Amino acid sequence: MASVPFDQLDGHIWMNGEFVKWADAKIHVLTHGLHYASAVFEGERAYGGEIFKLTEHTERLHESARLLGFTIPYSVAEIDDACRDLLRMQGFSDAYVRPIAWRGSEMMGVSAQNNRINCAIAIWQWPSYFDPEQRLKGIRLDMAEYRRPDPRTAPSKSKAAGLYMICTLSKHAAESKGYADALMLDWRGQVAEATGANVFFVKDGKIHTPKPDCFLDGITRRTVIDLARARGIEVIERAIMPEELEGFEQAFLTGTAAEVTPVAEIGQYRFVVGDIARTLMEDYMAEVQPKRAVAAE
Ligand SMILES: Cc1ncc(COP(=O)(O)O)c(C=O)c1O
Repeated sequence: MASVPFDQLDGHIWMNGEFVKWADAKIHVLTHGLHYASAVFEGERAYGGEIFKLTEHTERLHESARLLGFTIPYSVAEIDDACRDLLRMQGFSDAYVRPIAWRGSEMMGVSAQNNRINCAIAIWQWPSYFDPEQRLKGIRLDMAEYRRPDPRTAPSKSKAAGLYMICTLSKHAAESKGYADALMLDWRGQVAEATGANVFFVKDGKIHTPKPDCFLDGITRRTVIDLARARGIEVIERAIMPEELEGFEQAFLTGTAAEVTPVAEIGQYRFVVGDIARTLMEDYMAEVQPKRAVAAE
């Protein structure tokens, strides 16, 4: 993919209620969100011209902001409409959608009680989060140095920009060693998630996945659990210790960007790209298609 910088893509960005030219969607360097990470965001995908589970994502955006102590000045319906309108304007059928809300520049300091809450949406084409060839063989994960924080340490249910600091550090460290991503443990030393996706394991025909009590309960995670149960596959949500990885046969990640991605390797442990991971990959791709298109077939 040609590496055009993201501030130089084409089209429009929705910003505080207006569609502005992509190059003009700018903020000042003294923005609270930049200095103190007072920002929350979403990652969504459009398939066949429709954004999958759009309202669920927008509701999570609102909830993420509430957990950071601010209210987004646009309703869920207004943001949903803006996402749909922008998708049409950008002219994409399949695309990635990135709404973000942040505290502005009226006050500079830890306290920013009166700062304007800004909101923007950008949409671009992002075909695959992981290298498509690696994805088919199963990606390789390193073990991350940093751990997901205790919910008493940070608002871990918020999709807050600040919580991604340790994700970027962990992903960079993994990539520099030739891995695609890293598996993060949580503050207790239990298996948590990858740097931008949830994790699942398979053993004896059953799926095991960590309980999302200190990390994002992904919308893809919940969708895939429903798809697995609809196929009669038992899904067990529980605490998983890293030593248990040795006994699992298959592993895969789920996320809006990652979709369902098989994992072949986590640190010293090896997995096969097996039937359950492959079936859920296919079921997920069928599930995200607009229902009208499925009905018309
Ligand atoms: C840290 C993290 N965990 C999990 C997920 C998966 O969430 P979802 O399936 O809602 O995209 C994401 C992606 O948003 C993420 O960034």
